[in-house]
Amino acid sequence: MTHPVLTALGLNDTESGTYLGHGEWSATRDAGVLEPVNPTNGDVLAKVHASSQDDYDTIVERAQAAFKVWRTTPAPRRGEAIRLCADALRKHKDALGSLVALEMGKSKPEGDGEVQEMIDIGDFAVGLSRQLYGLTMHSERPGHRMYEQWHPIGLVGVISAFNFPVAVWAWNSFIAAICGDITIWKPSPKTPLSAIASMKICNEALKAGGFPDIFFLFNDAGTELASSFVDDKRIGLISFTGSTKVGRIVGERVARRMGRSLLELGGNNAIIVDPSADLKLAIPAIAFGAVGTAGQRCTTTRRLFVHESIYDDVLAKLIAAYKQVEKKIGDPTDPTNLMGPLNSRDGVQAYLDAIEKAKASGGKIETGGTAIDRPGNFVLPAIVTGLSNDAEIVQHETFAPILYVMKYSQLDEAIHLQNDVPQGLSSSIFTQNLKAAEAFLSAAGSDCGIANVNIGTSGAEIGGAFGGEKETGGGRESGSDAWRAYMRRQTNTINYSDALPLAQGIKFDL
Ligand code: UN1
Repeated sequence: MTHPVLTALGLNDTESGTYLGHGEWSATRDAGVLEPVNPTNGDVLAKVHASSQDDYDTIVERAQAAFKVWRTTPAPRRGEAIRLCADALRKHKDALGSLVALEMGKSKPEGDGEVQEMIDIGDFAVGLSRQLYGLTMHSERPGHRMYEQWHPIGLVGVISAFNFPVAVWAWNSFIAAICGDITIWKPSPKTPLSAIASMKICNEALKAGGFPDIFFLFNDAGTELASSFVDDKRIGLISFTGSTKVGRIVGERVARRMGRSLLELGGNNAIIVDPSADLKLAIPAIAFGAVGTAGQRCTTTRRLFVHESIYDDVLAKLIAAYKQVEKKIGDPTDPTNLMGPLNSRDGVQAYLDAIEKAKASGGKIETGGTAIDRPGNFVLPAIVTGLSNDAEIVQHETFAPILYVMKYSQLDEAIHLQNDVPQGLSSSIFTQNLKAAEAFLSAAGSDCGIANVNIGTSGAEIGGAFGGEKETGGGRESGSDAWRAYMRRQTNTINYSDALPLAQGIKFDL
């Protein structure tokens, strides 16, 4: 029987994973099948037919044709298309939020929150469609004018991860759309249903508004199609979200063909709690950061540095908060639960392996550290003490709810330790001390793409540019001026005089 959450979105227990454009979903039935699993009980939710090479070729050809029309459609008109998508998502927020919770395993409020991020980036994109500003410059030559324009780059490839199965696509595709690009999406094989539902909602809205296809979708049963996608010269930008290991390969291969890549890779995010911190804010922020989405956000809090003078108190309060969370671990579609299962069995194994490594390195498990004896991929969130920042397991991003808590005595030392990992995504300090906050945000402070004061590491708003440094990949997407990644810049010099002066005063008299 089809799961009611799927039925509510018009999805069946067998779906095509390929949107070919022209209102057509592929009839391919021999390119493999994806079987997304309900992480709460291990049931297969539906069968999704993967895409063939022919499907992929059709998509790219149609996307190229669509681009020819879309690139000359006025940007504010393109914004209108995204306004319709955001409106449609508002209507389906509850249903799509439930599907994200069901298929990914995050809590229902977080599933709804993810759809809210889609709506928010939609609204942002609508406004931005009238603000794709270029600069004007003063020419050094008389009778000349210089300015720059931003043009669309063409086809944008989005490869998204299971943990944010819909929002990351919207961050990319909505901004790309107002920039005049066409997006081709390859979602995670673990969450194809959330992708299909998002495509259906947006395509229906675009069609009803009389807009052409601007979004395409394919699913890969293996890695062959995704691999040729990365190498495909016709795709101007590949935006990849996932592990540093795969991101490095993607970045290198796209660079080899002189394409552009936007990489959103691993994080190893830390919070510093200084002696002046307001613990009424810090404790829930740390708990949400470490336990929210069962530790499967790239912004999840993985390390905590607590000043030695308050260490025992903070640790005791945190353990008490974790005990409260433990009472609310369960089916994520039940909105009263705070934490759902991990998305996959592999995730559970990675969690258990990390706990074993932590113990073997001398770590003490203060709470959690085991899988829960019930169907599905449930684990207890863990707090580990007694390890130093340079322990191999602490340096590594394990995509699970494991928090390493460490002590410090000087702020400089805490900032150094928080930076002393390969990754550089998100960071926070809890302090009421202005000097400490400013030191943390200064050029000698956090080296991350995101640095916060008195809020946690996760749950960034869409209005800021999202991304990080070092092995996080350097990409920025979502708000601020991240739109520039989806456009090409052109400098124009116009001579409206009757002379031909050369720049730099060069003489070339014929
Ligand atoms: C991700 O984990 O890939 O800041 C994205 C956050 C969310 C996005 C996370 N707004 O936690």
